[in-house]
Amino acid sequence: MLIFLLGMMGSGKTTLGRQLAQQLSYTFVDLDEYIEQREQKSIAAIFEELGEETFRKKERAALEALVQKFPSAVVATGGGAPCFFDNIKYMNRHGLTVFLAVPVSEISHRLLATNLSLRPLLANKSEAEINLFLAKTLANRNQFYEQAKYKLEGSAITVAQIIELLN
Ligand code: S3P
Repeated sequence: MLIFLLGMMGSGKTTLGRQLAQQLSYTFVDLDEYIEQREQKSIAAIFEELGEETFRKKERAALEALVQKFPSAVVATGGGAPCFFDNIKYMNRHGLTVFLAVPVSEISHRLLATNLSLRPLLANKSEAEINLFLAKTLANRNQFYEQAKYKLEGSAITVAQIIELLN
């Protein structure tokens, strides 16, 4: 089985995904890392040198390649992944999708404590601009995230909650 974790940057997809994979004895795949390996370029460099539109095409291609390569795995997707092309439908067809719905205030708090230069959509923004960007982006993306099969809400989502959903 493929399990896709969806949600905004900073919603815990990678951290929870790693833990979930470990507990289920599944392979863990981070879609962004997979793209970086395939392209031999960082996500930041892909955005900077080729632009977001090209990144989204590469993201979709990586998603398809991953589905072919891993019959079962826990996949942490990039925050925008479900929101381009028919990616959410594609993931729903090929696996179980779980939306980690973390409040913007918590996401912002977490992201501000990380290295923002690695996040091309947030780099060079002030705290106020980041808050506004996150709120607007989430409002646009919810229509896609909400198509996930499962949704967990809150600032402290745990692996145990995800496992309970899957049982
Ligand atoms: C993005 C989120 C990032 C990465 C890229 C774009 C987005 O992944 O795919 O910077 O559009 O929200 P994370 O959600 O893993 O940070």
